[in-house]
Amino acid sequence: MFQVNDNYQKLPGSYLFSTIGKKVNAYAQANPDRQIIRLGIGDVTQPLAPAIIQALHRAVDEMGNAETFRGYAPDLGYEFLRSAIVENDYRARGCEIATDEIFVSDGAKSDSGNIQEIFSLDNRIAVCDPVYPVYVDSNVMAGRTGTYDAQKEMWSDVIYMPCTMENGFVPEFPKETPDVIYLCLPNNPTGTTITKEQLQSWVDYANKAGAVIIYDAAYEAYISEDHVAHSIYECEGAKTCAIELKSFSKNAGFTGVRLGYTVVPKELKCGEVSLNAMWARRHGTKFNGAPYIVQRAGEAVYSAEGKAQLKEQVAYYMRNAAAIREGLEDAGYTVFGGVNAPYIWLKTPKGMTSWEFFDYLLEQANVVGTPGSGFGPSGEGYFRLTAFGSYENTVAALERIRKL
Ligand code: MLT
Repeated sequence: MFQVNDNYQKLPGSYLFSTIGKKVNAYAQANPDRQIIRLGIGDVTQPLAPAIIQALHRAVDEMGNAETFRGYAPDLGYEFLRSAIVENDYRARGCEIATDEIFVSDGAKSDSGNIQEIFSLDNRIAVCDPVYPVYVDSNVMAGRTGTYDAQKEMWSDVIYMPCTMENGFVPEFPKETPDVIYLCLPNNPTGTTITKEQLQSWVDYANKAGAVIIYDAAYEAYISEDHVAHSIYECEGAKTCAIELKSFSKNAGFTGVRLGYTVVPKELKCGEVSLNAMWARRHGTKFNGAPYIVQRAGEAVYSAEGKAQLKEQVAYYMRNAAAIREGLEDAGYTVFGGVNAPYIWLKTPKGMTSWEFFDYLLEQANVVGTPGSGFGPSGEGYFRLTAFGSYENTVAALERIRKL
């Protein structure tokens, strides 16, 4: 008789954004006359930039021609894309990353869920609390997190690093020494970040502890302040302790197109074992590459027109972020984030729990957000709004919230 992976049975509830989706759909069905504004999941709303559309069209035409048709992509991704990444995301910032340290994928969500496979099941992971749920859930599925305490909403073998108003949302070094540390900066969900100096202290800590940092830089394009690092490799010593995950979803609107990449430096080793070689082995075995046409679209992100158009797109969303911040502050809310990230993190009013505020906002204002407690116990009493809506919807949502 076959047996299933019991670890899946330990997962409490469904994936956060699936739960929210179901709740909102049920409300919409019961109230078909209501115009719901969705500022919940961080999904983009603006169309792909013209430079990207042109690149897609060209690549589609190539696929229809025997001379230029492409089949399977190279294991690590096409050289043209990996070179553009190296030049623009790294060399331009003074970081030396080689093309064979870049692994092109179908997005940072898959990579952030899959990367744990190359680590021992005995490793202890440390996560910020609140946290993007994929990091913890993928470790639960693998069997690395121990038992779940439903009351505390915590796993026995996970090290939680609370990020709250009290510590300025900056994770502190944990009392127990972790093996694998997940950091997402600028942060999802709090929309806050840390200075380059603070990041350097995490790199120093990891190198000293013999730990690996999984650095999720999906929101890097939204950094507006000079003292914030765009890549962990701007920090000295990061190549011996850090893996960086990057996404094209938020900077270029690829949530439905799917493209990302992971950097695994060759200096990153466990004794004599190279993590770059391990990830290459994993990638070659389990992944057949992002589509050629999508990789060409990714290349266009780094063209002069692409860069200019995407700068405008990021500015568009950041105008929303400013409108949300200011609107909420005017309405008396305590608000964080939204300066270096497209997320605004607010304290729920009148002592409401995160889910109470979710229901209140959905029912009274027909606005959807994300309950902070869905990201971890320290998210209780907080709520996330995304700046990825249209400007008109964002302003309309704020009007409704103000009237509550
Ligand atoms: C979010 O809303 O947290 C993100 O959109 C989720 C993701 O990027 O997978």
